[in-house]
Amino acid sequence: MAAPSVTNYDEYIHVPNNTNLDHIPGDYGLPFLGHTIRYLKDPLPWAQERYKQYGELSKVSTTGTRGVLCLGPDLAQQIMLDPGRDFSSKMGFHDRVATFFSGSLIMEDFEHHRHQRRIMQTAFKNDSLKHYTQEINRIYDRALGEWQRESDQTIPFFVYIKDLLLEVAAEIFIGETERGERVRKLNQAFVDCVNGIMYIVPLNLPGFAMHKGIKGKEYLQNFIGGLVPQKRAGDGLDMLSHFCREKDEDGNFFDDEEITNQTIFLLFAAHDTTTAAITHTIYYLARHPEVKQKLYEECKALGKDELGYDDLDAVPYMQQVFNEVQRIRPSVPSVPRRTIRDVEMAGYKVPAHTMIYTLPRFTHWMEEYWDEPFKFDPDRFSPERNEHKKHPFQFHPFGGGAHKCIGMHFSQMEYKCFIYKFMLQFDFEARHESDPFMQTFPLPKPTDDMPIQLIRR
Ligand code: HEM
Repeated sequence: MAAPSVTNYDEYIHVPNNTNLDHIPGDYGLPFLGHTIRYLKDPLPWAQERYKQYGELSKVSTTGTRGVLCLGPDLAQQIMLDPGRDFSSKMGFHDRVATFFSGSLIMEDFEHHRHQRRIMQTAFKNDSLKHYTQEINRIYDRALGEWQRESDQTIPFFVYIKDLLLEVAAEIFIGETERGERVRKLNQAFVDCVNGIMYIVPLNLPGFAMHKGIKGKEYLQNFIGGLVPQKRAGDGLDMLSHFCREKDEDGNFFDDEEITNQTIFLLFAAHDTTTAAITHTIYYLARHPEVKQKLYEECKALGKDELGYDDLDAVPYMQQVFNEVQRIRPSVPSVPRRTIRDVEMAGYKVPAHTMIYTLPRFTHWMEEYWDEPFKFDPDRFSPERNEHKKHPFQFHPFGGGAHKCIGMHFSQMEYKCFIYKFMLQFDFEARHESDPFMQTFPLPKPTDDMPIQLIRR
């Protein structure tokens, strides 16, 4: 049967969330708070308990919204591949991010989404990725040269890598090559915008994070929107230039506002995710010296100063480390959706307009699929063990289906080029004062910002 066509947003975007889930197992937790505290603190043990008690599907209430928690690879596959066009990404993200990311890829469904994704595809072709790889290596060289001066000192690694990847974003995404006040302001606006999205109090009033975030977004809109005409006329190779020059099926440029909104979301989708992936890698390597040594030897054996675009597959152990970090601490903790119509899920009828929550990390830790899932063990992804191949959705750090991460190859290039250069130039040791709490929200990372001592090789 052909999938029903959903070309008209009026069909479902004006309908409020369904909250009548009486026939679905589960509970709504504490009065007012629901499950919010446990969910935000660490959703994994909470989800594991619910799975034992209720199975794959249970009703929950988090951050003031009732919905259905969907656990395990079968439901992840149903939701992400979505052959029946039953799930809306737009409405899944609507309540929290509409203020900041309306008009972005993640806030579009079906035909609208496909049209928008076309604008962006052009910036992720092989030739473009090759160019970004060269530029990123150049930026890393400069930055690591500065880090050399901090050898033998303890640095908050998370803060350093966050700043470095902001610099990468300004240059590769927007084409801002100078490191002066202009880029500092741009980066600050971006950080305010991201902090704004994580607001606790939904008030757009001075002094509140949401307000600062909205101001940040306005700054980004003016900054990026103001660049569109010159980028369209120029021959730049940054991502924004690609979007500006791309044309639709009728030969028209894409709308300036669409380009601006997509670029702002891209900055967000790219930055914190890769920052978290690299920070967690340093955390696990510091705790597993044998893995760190094996990775160092792989890098050294290649005999080059840096990884070129064509070398990205020449470090298979690094790929295993990346995968294991994403398995154990995925950079995107949760993928929300909302049902468009009544949907059969795990034997229950989930009514139309119900919020759906998936948790990739739960699936990545399921004992049914992984040996000792709590153990950091990159060899589980080796060709000999291939533990990740039992179910197509037991490992899905980049999502799946129409909304699958458009930056999947870019992020792994950014990650590998950094880890390669860093491993060749430095050894390092963790300098935690005590075992850090590993936070999941707003961004997965060790709460103490991962202090390490840099040791020059
Ligand atoms: C370790 C790094 C990254 C991880 C783990 C990651 C993960 C994800 C996931 C799980 C989704 C799907 C969300 C959903 O279905 O609701 C997604 C979407 C997306 N990601 Fe990434 N991402 C990463 C890096 C990046 C980078 C570097 C970029 C851009 C250069 C990027 C751009 C996007 C965009 C634009 C979307 C929305 C796609 C769409 O809706 O069609 N991501 N990412």
